[in-house]
Amino acid sequence: MKAVVLNAHGSLDQLQWTDHFPDPVIIPNHVVIRVRATSFNYHDVFTVRGMPGIKVPMPMIIGLDIAGEIVELGEGVTGYKVGDRVLVNPLNKTKGLMGEMMHGGLAEKCLVAVDQLILMPDKVSFEQAAALPVAYGTAHRMIITHNTIKKGDKVLVLGASGGVGTGCVLLAKLLGAEVIACASSEDKIQRLKALGADHVINYKEVDFSRWVNEKYGKPQRRNYEGGVDVVINFTGGDTWGSTLRCVKRGGKILVCGATAGYDPKEDLRYIWSFELQVIGSNSFYDENLKALMQMIAEGKINPIIDEVLPLEKAAQGLKLIEDREVFGKVIVTP
Ligand SMILES: NC(=O)c1ccc[n+]([C@@H]2O[C@H](COP(=O)([O-])OP(=O)(O)OC[C@H]3O[C@@H](n4cnc5c(N)ncnc54)[C@H](OP(=O)(O)O)[C@@H]3O)[C@@H](O)[C@H]2O)c1
Repeated sequence: MKAVVLNAHGSLDQLQWTDHFPDPVIIPNHVVIRVRATSFNYHDVFTVRGMPGIKVPMPMIIGLDIAGEIVELGEGVTGYKVGDRVLVNPLNKTKGLMGEMMHGGLAEKCLVAVDQLILMPDKVSFEQAAALPVAYGTAHRMIITHNTIKKGDKVLVLGASGGVGTGCVLLAKLLGAEVIACASSEDKIQRLKALGADHVINYKEVDFSRWVNEKYGKPQRRNYEGGVDVVINFTGGDTWGSTLRCVKRGGKILVCGATAGYDPKEDLRYIWSFELQVIGSNSFYDENLKALMQMIAEGKINPIIDEVLPLEKAAQGLKLIEDREVFGKVIVTP
């Protein structure tokens, strides 16, 4: 079959297109799906580069988010039939993440354990479904499962233009929050405005914590005035210090990653003086993905898709993410 395969860690040049990768072989309690859409995440950049402590078996077909049709049923599979449209929860209970520890979505076909399947509602397209799991699923867990945002909250989103970021903007708006979206270019800023962000900050040009303190007042230690209620920060690095300085007393910082660095300089005084809550979120569950597909079917959200590329051009899509040139999600349709 056709596939995009990682043979060794390094630059994106290590991703190679092939038209003779062996088809998956069906095994009990699994199905083979014809991949109709898969999407990239920043995680794929880390997988290609190699991450400390994670040994990726090579060659590896990357791609975590997968939607497609069942073409073959293994022994013992019940509740599904050939032709069913399914979204895959990429976390395999015994082996780990698809696209990292076992073959993922950048191929015509894919072997999936039956307990990873979620039936797709008719009104959800393969592209929409494939945009969801890692980015929107995690945004849903951060915001909805952990019940972190309420109507009227001032919510500042860093990296708002990315996969998780656009998901956070859409969900926070749906809950009635006042959203301040931060991004690094004028083009992204314009697109975030069009998405419904109430305020936008180009944080390459403007210090976002100073912007917050000028707009809402400096956070106060003796009362609950000033600052924002919530900052969503999966960037880390040098955004951490500024984040601590713009959250109101009793406010929340939501964290699910650290694209720019996981060991930033810390200042614990802010955490106790302002009674800050740092709330971590890791991945998502089937219930997050089902709820998101239901929201799409009901017309409440529409995941933001920047590019839809054929398998042959998949590596170009990941380059967009690595170069910070993406707005929302990049989808590949093998
Ligand atoms: N724990 C979990 O389960 C989980 C799940 C999903 C994602 N994550 C993590 O969350 C982060 C975002 O993931 P994603 O897939 O949404 O990524 P993405 O689509 O590439 O978006 C990340 C955004 O962050 C901004 N950014 C700020 N500093 C950056 C830097 N140094 N390098 C690259 N981008 C930078 C970029 O926007 P600007 O250029 O506008 O600043 C970019 O659009 C990643 O660290 C990822 O590993 C964790």
